Amino acid sequence: MKKSNPIFNSAEFQKHLLAWYRSHARVLPWRVDTRTLSTRGRDPYAANPYHVWLSEIMLQQTVVATVIPYFNKFIKNYPDIFVLARAKEADIMRDWAGLGYYARARNLIMCAKQICDEHGGIFPSDEDTLLELKGIGAYTAAAIRAIAFNKPAIVVDGNIERIVSRVFRITEFLPAAKLILKQYAAEFYLRDKHPAEMAQALMDLGATICVPKNPRCELCPVSKFCAVAHTAEAGTYPRKKPKDVRPVRRGFTLILYTKAGDVWCETRGGHRMLGGMLGLPSSDWDQKGEDCKFDVRHAKKIGIVKHIFSHFELQMDVYAQIITKREMAVYKNSGMFVPRDGIVNAGLPSLFKKAMKVFNDEKF
Ligand code: ADE
Repeated sequence: MKKSNPIFNSAEFQKHLLAWYRSHARVLPWRVDTRTLSTRGRDPYAANPYHVWLSEIMLQQTVVATVIPYFNKFIKNYPDIFVLARAKEADIMRDWAGLGYYARARNLIMCAKQICDEHGGIFPSDEDTLLELKGIGAYTAAAIRAIAFNKPAIVVDGNIERIVSRVFRITEFLPAAKLILKQYAAEFYLRDKHPAEMAQALMDLGATICVPKNPRCELCPVSKFCAVAHTAEAGTYPRKKPKDVRPVRRGFTLILYTKAGDVWCETRGGHRMLGGMLGLPSSDWDQKGEDCKFDVRHAKKIGIVKHIFSHFELQMDVYAQIITKREMAVYKNSGMFVPRDGIVNAGLPSLFKKAMKVFNDEKF
């Protein structure tokens, strides 16, 4: 049974929000700029589907400011879906390095191939077909449909969940409340005639005004429809179940270096965490049964790095050991030497960059 908010009215809410968005929209590289619309034979409010898809995948679990330079780099290096689908996986993984959640990059590659092989390089616009694509879940399918095709969809990301929870004063705890929040969010999109703008207007409202702590209700274009606006409790929504503490896992990494300053790196197995990425040899901290083939008993422990993954914290001991290229010749098919100076640009994930920092700071 839905709780009602007697001060809410879909049509009026949409009218005020759109008026605000048209003068306050953030200028983002994957967006149609509503202030300088250009018609390219498609619906002028619909953005480039390749750009929307790429940005939405990057924006999963990552903030806008971090995504922008990565998005620009990808558009430059892979200007369309065909170039991306044909690119070398190692190049894509290197360009993704540092953005985290590397399964997204592997799915991105598979999805690009699916779109080229099964859809002639044209993005589908209906949610069921979008959902068949690798890496595209309910949120991303709805976002692509709305933003890239300007077609009706109930787009609900974390920002929009927050707005819904406040406007309708939803007291149920997240994550269990997700379904309820989606049902309420439908009220935002009821008979909406501007799907692309509406979804992005809600995202911008959540990112700039209806922010997690200390919402700026005095600047909000739709505060008069909100059940908790201008109250002390506004910032307490959405209600969240208290977080379980992250478990801590221990592991180690081994920096094998030559006198000339080259460091041994390996491409990690596809089934491991950070799979497909370049890495330093490491123990089985991801518990996927591929342990380090090198022994650390004769190596020197030079420090420890901490790294937060979504479901655990890793405390990783960093070992270093000098070796000769000849000693490593037997492993040459499983890895390669990278010059110490160039290693930060070689596409190492942040975890291993932290280990390299410990190494570079060490006085040998
Ligand atoms: N977060 C997720 N998708 C977004 C988008 N298209 N624009 C701004 N922020 C977002």
